[in-house]
Amino acid sequence: MSMPVSVRWVGDATGHLEILDQTHLPARLDWLACHDVETTVEAIKSLRVRGAPAIGITGAYGLVVAAGEAVRAGFSPDKARAHVLARGEELASARPTAVNLRWAVERSLAKLASVAFSPSAAELAALLLAEAQAIHDEDRRLCAVIGRHGAAILPVGNVLTHCNTGALATGGIGTALGVITTAWDSGRRFEVFADETRPLFQGARLTAWELVERGIPVTVVCDAAAGHLLATGRIAACIVGADRITANGDTANKIGTYSLAVLAAAHGVPFFVAAPSSTFDLGLATGVEIPIEERGAAEVLAPLGVPAAPTGAKAFNPAFDVTPARLIRAIITEHGAIEPVTPERIAAVLAGRG
Ligand code: MRU
Repeated sequence: MSMPVSVRWVGDATGHLEILDQTHLPARLDWLACHDVETTVEAIKSLRVRGAPAIGITGAYGLVVAAGEAVRAGFSPDKARAHVLARGEELASARPTAVNLRWAVERSLAKLASVAFSPSAAELAALLLAEAQAIHDEDRRLCAVIGRHGAAILPVGNVLTHCNTGALATGGIGTALGVITTAWDSGRRFEVFADETRPLFQGARLTAWELVERGIPVTVVCDAAAGHLLATGRIAACIVGADRITANGDTANKIGTYSLAVLAAAHGVPFFVAAPSSTFDLGLATGVEIPIEERGAAEVLAPLGVPAAPTGAKAFNPAFDVTPARLIRAIITEHGAIEPVTPERIAAVLAGRG
């Protein structure tokens, strides 16, 4: 099968957004049609679409959906703009940790602010669609570049990854998974180990599905098996994606990433992060400032809907954790690899002075 697509726009600027419902994968490929912002926000909150770059792209298309609502409601230019701004805030705050979501919504809204005339609702929709498609196309290109940069420095040998960072999580081939598939496509052969990634199993359900579909052998392991894998010398490198990276290189990613980085350091295995520049939040100095999303207890107490704990038990369910920069060998971006991970190198590489 060709590379999956996480979101697609259907029709002209007053058309609608379609989301590949990742909560149904790998059992079913169901497309969810989003004709209103409420459906789009619900899809982001419930992880029907997920992964930092993919929710950013969805946020940008969500604004086009909002403009479509304004067209159908017959709003004046002023009312249409106010409607899009209000809906934009609902979209941008649907999930708090991945900075790409707010980044993409704000980038699209900034485009509107730069327009000299007062656009009608239909003109707003057209402007926002052009910007959403630009963000989507850009992410597709950046993923390919990150894949090439990463494949060039990925050590020879088996890799271990966490969560899902592939086509489902982005607008292109993925970030960390894009590095893995680019290395594979260049003829290198190695084993890919995928942490199952509790509690929502993005590794088992999504990463393994993408790799199987691509014909790349994958071995799924319980998150708790990572230490044993590393201790027995079976892993040459760990590589993960990111939801937000602060100015000093501290990196928020799926819960369990920090434990994996500590284990990798304990066993002398290099730990890589791959992410586009839209994942950096240089306004935050360190990882302690990153808002960490906490999700409902049911995800932990009844994984995949199957009760696994007694009634009355409580759960703590942070969706992300922060890996300190000192545990990261390099951060692979579209501008190249940032190594060592220091505030100075980050600033230089992102400014194109790397
Ligand atoms: O809660 P999720 O599934 O949206 O979390 C996704 C991750 O943590 C990914 O590793 C991250 O967004 C990078 S995606 C290229």
